[in-house]
Amino acid sequence: MVKIALLGAAGQIGTPLSLLCKASDLFDEISLYDLVHVPGIATDLNHIDTRTRVSGHLPDDSGLKKALTGADIVVVTAGIARKPGMTRDDLFKTNASIIRDIFTDIAVTCPQAMCCVVTNPVNSTLPVATEALKKGGVFDPTRIFGVTTLDVVRASTFAAHALGDNVNPKDLKVSVIGGHSGATILPLYSQAEPPVTLDDQTLAGVINRVQFGGDEIVKSKQGAGSATTCMAYAGFRFIKALLSGMDGEAITEEAYVYLPGIPGGKEIAAELGVDYFAVKVELGKTGATKALPIGKISEHETRLLEVALKELKSNIATGLSFMA
Ligand code: LMR
Repeated sequence: MVKIALLGAAGQIGTPLSLLCKASDLFDEISLYDLVHVPGIATDLNHIDTRTRVSGHLPDDSGLKKALTGADIVVVTAGIARKPGMTRDDLFKTNASIIRDIFTDIAVTCPQAMCCVVTNPVNSTLPVATEALKKGGVFDPTRIFGVTTLDVVRASTFAAHALGDNVNPKDLKVSVIGGHSGATILPLYSQAEPPVTLDDQTLAGVINRVQFGGDEIVKSKQGAGSATTCMAYAGFRFIKALLSGMDGEAITEEAYVYLPGIPGGKEIAAELGVDYFAVKVELGKTGATKALPIGKISEHETRLLEVALKELKSNIATGLSFMA
């Protein structure tokens, strides 16, 4: 029996994500939680001919507790999204308390669940979530992830676009480390497989597009929000990786994690001077089983890493001071 709880399921990421989960037939049970609409969304999804049972829970009548009870995986997309002119940090004031309250309930109801935080600004909301779990006395760093998979998806897609029509983005593997916001996003094209051969100027343009891909969508949607379908796609990719690991398959995926609590992570944290950072992690039956070293990076990437770390430190401090 595998149960996934999707919190924020009536939102523009949550709804397509719930469709991907229901259509995949990878779950026995999907519970949807949001402030509005989720009973109807559940009824709608239950007309799809997969075996998964979907239930929808509103806040009244202990809805969050019901949604979380027995969950093996919890994905949080709840909160507000950006509008033009806003940075992800502008979302913190509203979204931080949403994350704090949800994780306070997770700590009581399903402390063993694998938790995925999509709600922005992820660089700061993950520290909020981990502090809430710490306060509940149940923090396990191997089971909580900030979802940065969209950056990995973009890194392959945008490089493939620059390389030409005959390159399938899915054939390009590009690790992306750091965080999930602007300059904190660091695609490592020097490690790409197969190697990406672009001139310096084109490569710099591709890196910038990966870092600010979120802004491209916010601008294009003209006030109607930020990334939704590509974020749902990326979130689902991460969920599938998590499930494969839980099934005993050896799999790696990038995620924003609390490094000191993951085997191999303490060394990386000491080298970088930050505790929260996105790296490639090995996923196993119990969540993150290993944080993989960053490896050799180019001089240009080393300079970008310095910039990323400076911004990331401030984002992490924002999350921690909110919970202090
Ligand atoms: C993205 O990367 O597209 C998302 O984090 C949404 C945003 O606000 O940019």
